[in-house]
Amino acid sequence: MDAIAPRAEPARPPDRKSLTSWENAKRNGTRRVLITAYDYPFAKLADEAGIDGILIGDSLGMAVQGGRDTLRVSLDHMIYHTEMVARAAPTCLIMADLPFGSFEANPAQAFASAASLLKAGADIVKLEGGAAMVETVGFLSARAIPVCAHIGLTPQHVRQFGGFKKQGKTDDAAARLITDAIALAEAGARMVLMEAIPAPLAAEITKRVAVPTIGIGAGGGTDAQILVLHDVLGLGGGTVPGFARTYLDGAALVRAAIGHYAEDVRIRAFPPD
Ligand code: KIV
Repeated sequence: MDAIAPRAEPARPPDRKSLTSWENAKRNGTRRVLITAYDYPFAKLADEAGIDGILIGDSLGMAVQGGRDTLRVSLDHMIYHTEMVARAAPTCLIMADLPFGSFEANPAQAFASAASLLKAGADIVKLEGGAAMVETVGFLSARAIPVCAHIGLTPQHVRQFGGFKKQGKTDDAAARLITDAIALAEAGARMVLMEAIPAPLAAEITKRVAVPTIGIGAGGGTDAQILVLHDVLGLGGGTVPGFARTYLDGAALVRAAIGHYAEDVRIRAFPPD
């Protein structure tokens, strides 16, 4: 797939939410918030709404492509969507996912993939995995690539987990997640995202690492929160995870508007004479 030809990129305002501003926010105890977005119009609206960060998540495989999971998302898909979002959202931090199969083989593979996401406009890349990714996080961090480490329920491991299941429930699993988070942050990860783990565990990790933590389904004790756009806007059509909150019945509104337009054409009310 061809990447979109770079056009005039919006200037980034002085108050943009850089990585440093995120680190200061953790120090000051200021809560931050991210949402996913995958295209220009929604990324622009999120930026205008004052969101602190946008994740071009590989959840696009489910939310946008209609897949069962995120495994079929390619690096080309991620580059394509990152370019659209980066062009639309000059103020907030732009985070892009390294998709399944684009980084796990070795650190050099991860570097090539991550560099292409930074060239597409990302400020930071996110990769899934715990201890196995420590070497890669160190390699990328030493080579100008800021990394967010995603632990807990890592959807790219859905086959291994046997479904989208909450993680860190036993004492052993919780201890492993704490060790992993500390090792990833010490290797250079600039953020740690925790998905679907017990709230006290996420709060404990937030205290133990110096970098900002982001939670989804991990309680209120993290430095920042993230949700998937289609869950927030009620555009999913499928099941919304129990930990998400839907703020709009977007599917009903869109269906009604399209139905209204179709009806107007059929009864000759549109276009006007
Ligand atoms: O891909 C994604 O949208 C994510 C979030 C659920 C954190 O990884």
